[in-house]
Amino acid sequence: MLSSARIAARPAVRRVAAFNMALRPASTWANVQQGPPTAGSALAQYQAILGVTEAFKADSFPKKINLGVGAYRDDQGKPYVLPSVLKAEKRVVDAKMNHEYAGITGVPEFTKAAAELAYGKGSPALENLVITQSISGTGALRIGAAFLERFYPGNKTIYIPTPSWANHKAVFDDAGLQVQNYRYYNKDTIGLDFEGMVADIKAAPKGSIFLFHACAHNPTGVDPTEQQWREIEQAVKAQGHFAFFDMAYQGFASGDTNKDAFAVRHFVENGHQICLAQSFAKNMGLYGERIGAFSLVTESAEEKKRVDSQVKILVRPMYSNPPIHGARLASTILNDPELYEEWLGEVKGMADRIIRMRALLRENLEKLGSKHDWSHITSQIGMFAYTGLSPEQMDALAKEHSVYATRNGRISVAGITSENVGRLAESIFKVKG
Ligand SMILES: Cc1ncc(COP(=O)(O)O)c(C=O)c1O
Repeated sequence: MLSSARIAARPAVRRVAAFNMALRPASTWANVQQGPPTAGSALAQYQAILGVTEAFKADSFPKKINLGVGAYRDDQGKPYVLPSVLKAEKRVVDAKMNHEYAGITGVPEFTKAAAELAYGKGSPALENLVITQSISGTGALRIGAAFLERFYPGNKTIYIPTPSWANHKAVFDDAGLQVQNYRYYNKDTIGLDFEGMVADIKAAPKGSIFLFHACAHNPTGVDPTEQQWREIEQAVKAQGHFAFFDMAYQGFASGDTNKDAFAVRHFVENGHQICLAQSFAKNMGLYGERIGAFSLVTESAEEKKRVDSQVKILVRPMYSNPPIHGARLASTILNDPELYEEWLGEVKGMADRIIRMRALLRENLEKLGSKHDWSHITSQIGMFAYTGLSPEQMDALAKEHSVYATRNGRISVAGITSENVGRLAESIFKVKG
């Protein structure tokens, strides 16, 4: 029952509420502006890719081709579940494991094996490596960005290549780092602007942070050669810069996980205390499982202990601890010699199919009598190819030939199949000549 004092107070309460309503806008979020999809932003690129998928779905032409998606497809154009993953999953399910929380830095059997995969078994860097499981490659980048923002003693500006995976800028911006660019892609040669890249490394203030794609650069598919990496390492060292490697495609580029880790290992061998973001989205086809790792090379056991404690302090308020299923799958594969060998074969199979599709596309274009130099299609590496086609030519590909990809001329080679490559080449030939 209401007390008489509370009954007497009710009109006053109503008056205050009415007053507050008059002051407040109609909704708490009425002042939230529509996010501007500025050209080149992560959101704009994501929307562009979704737009490509929508347009593809709406097209009723049976032989339509979707080259927008950044996920591997088999030669029938279907998502590919790796047989080694299926086997690992069966083992995990059959083991009837519990679903308790992992520790803050994840499943230790997974992180240990992920580190060995990246740095190489027996690498001296493993001894004092700080590593944490992450929400795939993006989460690893985000933890790294937050750690650098909080602790990096030098210039807290991170240089990323032009162009780069569009989310890089957003991740580093959001973590409070300054983001600048270094030259990377040369539009004229459809290749690496090596001189520009090295010049920009040399011109950046000493002790800056440089983000490198370890292999299979997204979106261009253009990677430095091993010799060029050696020279890049020297320029980075001479300037006292810090190298942050993003390795989202280990094994996926060349088909060999060791070869694809060359840059990472070369920097470590030459004394750089790098940090590294790893993803198992592409090389294990575990996209939606969100499994990755972030690691930092430290100098001593004592330093490792301090850095590790701070990584934990960063992660805990972000998401407390990471999910376990993907880590169990990856860990089962990486720690079982037989499954590991099988997986290596499957990664090579994916990389080889992509390399084959690149060769077939080029061959078909040349057979049609195209006068353009298409050598970049086969010299580029990984899932994506920069075709050099203009936005208008990409529009024409979609409208006139039902071939869908983003307007920047990037095609996902994973969307090419033995069956559609001929029609794709004809379409490109008709549009570009
Ligand atoms: C260069 C690069 N880094 C990181 C990622 C992160 O991917 P994920 O968060 O799915 O592992 C991607 C995905 O496309 C990428 O291309």
